Amino acid sequence: MSSNEEKNIPMPEHIAIIMDGNGRWATKRGLPRTAGHSAGMNALENIVRFCSDSGVKYLTVYAFSTENWKRSKAEVNGIFKIMVLYIKKEIDELDRKNVRMCPVGAWNDIPGAAAKSMQYAVDRTKDNDGLVFNIALNYGGRREIADAFRKIAEEYRAAGKELRPEDIDEDLISKHMYAPDDPDPDLIIRTGGEKRISNFLLWQCAYSEFVYSDVLWPDFGPEQLMDCVKEFNGRHRRFGGLDKK
Ligand code: FPP
Repeated sequence: MSSNEEKNIPMPEHIAIIMDGNGRWATKRGLPRTAGHSAGMNALENIVRFCSDSGVKYLTVYAFSTENWKRSKAEVNGIFKIMVLYIKKEIDELDRKNVRMCPVGAWNDIPGAAAKSMQYAVDRTKDNDGLVFNIALNYGGRREIADAFRKIAEEYRAAGKELRPEDIDEDLISKHMYAPDDPDPDLIIRTGGEKRISNFLLWQCAYSEFVYSDVLWPDFGPEQLMDCVKEFNGRHRRFGGLDKK
């Protein structure tokens, strides 16, 4: 499907995706789990290209959670190797397409080669003003909120100021999130059939629409994405208010 065929369908400004199902995809084929992550990388390539061509402004994907360290060393290392490969393979095209790559999370704690490669992608694309492509890496929603409070306390201490209860409001907390300038996601998609948030964007998802797909991430392409967008477009977002009469 080309983005032209879909050009009359409005796209959400910010789409976030929990890319679930790589492991099951591989197991079903008698392959190691890392083969599922490699296939997941190919799916990601297509989705990023499609979002960039379709006028989506922000795409946030959950690549590695703070809980994913519990997996085997081989699988963890495999995921980071695949990420390095992805950057090597895709960076020229991403840059040409004006995509800005932004890791979100405690990503400095990831293995050195992966952090170096991500830093290269960040530096290379930092002046691009097309699609903002956020990659949640060693990301946890609770960790992000805790990190925000820590940053606030550090700033007050550095300025020699006392942090008073009345200083704390939603705006102050939002400004200390990993990507403070991004709008909250309009649409959060989870593939792979499970229906939970798994510590993803806990602060930002307050008024997001959730769409779940049974398709395993490696099989998820532009057609499946547009099915989710169509479902999203059919929803009435009231942000806690009432429909206008
Ligand atoms: C969840 O599926 C997927 C992950 C934890 C890893 C996602 C990683 C990629 C798509 C690799 C490419 C990443 C980048 C940034 C290029 P799962 O393993 O939990 O699947 P399961 O529920 O079937 O076991």
